[in-house]
Amino acid sequence: MYQATAIPATEAGGPFTLTPLPFAEEALAPVISRKTVALHYGEHHRAYVEKLNELAKGTEFARMPLDEIVKRTAKVGARAEIFNNAGQAWNHHFYWRSLAPKGGRPGEELRRRLDRDLGSYDEFKEAFTKAATGQFGSGWAWLVADGETLKIVTTSNADSPIAHGLTPLLTVDVWEHAYYLDYRNRREEHVREVVDRLLNWEFAAQNFGAG
Ligand code: FE2
Repeated sequence: MYQATAIPATEAGGPFTLTPLPFAEEALAPVISRKTVALHYGEHHRAYVEKLNELAKGTEFARMPLDEIVKRTAKVGARAEIFNNAGQAWNHHFYWRSLAPKGGRPGEELRRRLDRDLGSYDEFKEAFTKAATGQFGSGWAWLVADGETLKIVTTSNADSPIAHGLTPLLTVDVWEHAYYLDYRNRREEHVREVVDRLLNWEFAAQNFGAG
């Protein structure tokens, strides 16, 4: 299970920090441009973290691990605002680590699991792209482990598999801010490129406990 969910506390400022990108802003180009990463990470992701700090200040959530906030506020109407910002902070932290400048291909164990549960690696790519493209409005496409079984799921807005008892292995952000500067409205093309060239299968293996 993915462990890096307790985003570290800082001495000054709030308890949640915008953790550094695991690569340079230009490292995902040409699939995702430096401009998109700068805006997505530096503005959108940052805003979720800052808003979360504002909402959590002086509450029971101020020092709570981020994944715990997401799980505890899911489906609690009165907590929707904190859920949305905590969910987006968690999802983005996970998203950046789901990408790698030289995304590889799944290792042996995950390849076997994909064959067993989703047909093949190629069938995974098609099904994942189709799910991500078909997610209506803003949201996320995920490869998850449901117990021992690999599945593709999508979530809307800030929702996250961790709020549903699933273990995320990889995600692709399909909010328009993730691709609009580079691909305009061509979400499918964006997802296809990301899936082919940027998915971080080593990260997926670690999350699956197969690293
Ligand atoms: Fe995003």
